[in-house]
Amino acid sequence: MPLDGIRKIFQETYGQDPDVIGIAPGRVNLIGEHTDYNDGFVFPAAIDRGLQIAACVTKAETKTFSVQMGHGDPFKVGTVQPGFTEGWAKYPAGMGWALSQVADHELPNLKVVIDSNIPIGSGVSSSAALEMAFGVVWNYLGKLALDNRELARLGQVCENKFVGVNSGIMDQMASAMGREGMAMYLDTRTKVIEYFPVPKGLSVVLCDTKKERALTTSAYNERRTQCELAAQYLGVKMLRDADLGKLEAAKSHFPDVIYRRAKHVITENTRCGAFTAALTTGNLELIGILMRESHQSLRYDYEVSCDELDSMAESAWAAPGCIGARMMGGGFGGACIALVKTDKLEAFTEATLQIYKLASGRDGEAMACRIVDGARLLSA
Ligand code: GLA
Repeated sequence: MPLDGIRKIFQETYGQDPDVIGIAPGRVNLIGEHTDYNDGFVFPAAIDRGLQIAACVTKAETKTFSVQMGHGDPFKVGTVQPGFTEGWAKYPAGMGWALSQVADHELPNLKVVIDSNIPIGSGVSSSAALEMAFGVVWNYLGKLALDNRELARLGQVCENKFVGVNSGIMDQMASAMGREGMAMYLDTRTKVIEYFPVPKGLSVVLCDTKKERALTTSAYNERRTQCELAAQYLGVKMLRDADLGKLEAAKSHFPDVIYRRAKHVITENTRCGAFTAALTTGNLELIGILMRESHQSLRYDYEVSCDELDSMAESAWAAPGCIGARMMGGGFGGACIALVKTDKLEAFTEATLQIYKLASGRDGEAMACRIVDGARLLSA
């Protein structure tokens, strides 16, 4: 996305130049799914599908215009409250609201243009990217002097308290703290990040089922509640603190569905650690096994997959050059992530999409992603 593009749209929309342009990427997650709200481990990376926002300060209310989604509902950053809108402007408004909680002065209202190349509904977290882009821009124009970690934390506050999704912090941390060429192993309890290079010769491929995610908020919040219940049954603070032995010993004391939810989280945390070791030693076979196990655990124990995600993962497993593949993100639609030998990329893409079409009747899409830096200002 060339900068001139968004500057020009800004001029056409508001008849003036922007004060600043910011960017925030979407994310993939190699492994560690539905672990982040259990104080567990995740392994995401920021990708070259992101969004740019151009902004200037205004004395009137905050106005947002998205090239892809049109005009957002206007709001006043000083007074906007949770419940303000069901439209996409709840993300910028929520971020302004969350930033206002920590600011010792009133934030300025903004005129904003947003341009995005993040595929919508694919589960690469356009919402976190939107929050982080507004975060860096408001941080600058509102003279808040916050770092990107704090912006990520406030992005989660926005999701939990304003938007009403009880999500963890993975997406915001990935969008805010990503590093070019690196996957980030994040301990969501301590927030410590260890960066691991994605091995040379391997490509990260997003395999989009083109099935829009559905039921996400209610099912997501339900999973989180079930995890909290499981932790209570097990007598631990969070499922991060439980192990498989403890779970198996207590199995007969609680409902099967709660047992299976806990089993997924506990085994996924273990897989996440094993994955970093496999990446370091270049054990591609183990990487493949762990990704497949992750998918099956999300499918059968956590029950957040769907026919299309299962078909896509199975198609990728059967395609040439595939090291590993699994469903990614919240679930119920969206995309799988695959690690693929770069020199087999074309053959992989062709075979995966062909098998997927036969199995599901749908045209999927495969996109190789570059791993990039996190949210930042591009010009001020
Ligand atoms: C969504 C949430 C994240 C995380 C994933 C599942 O993307 O926003 O916090 O829980 O689902 O791993």
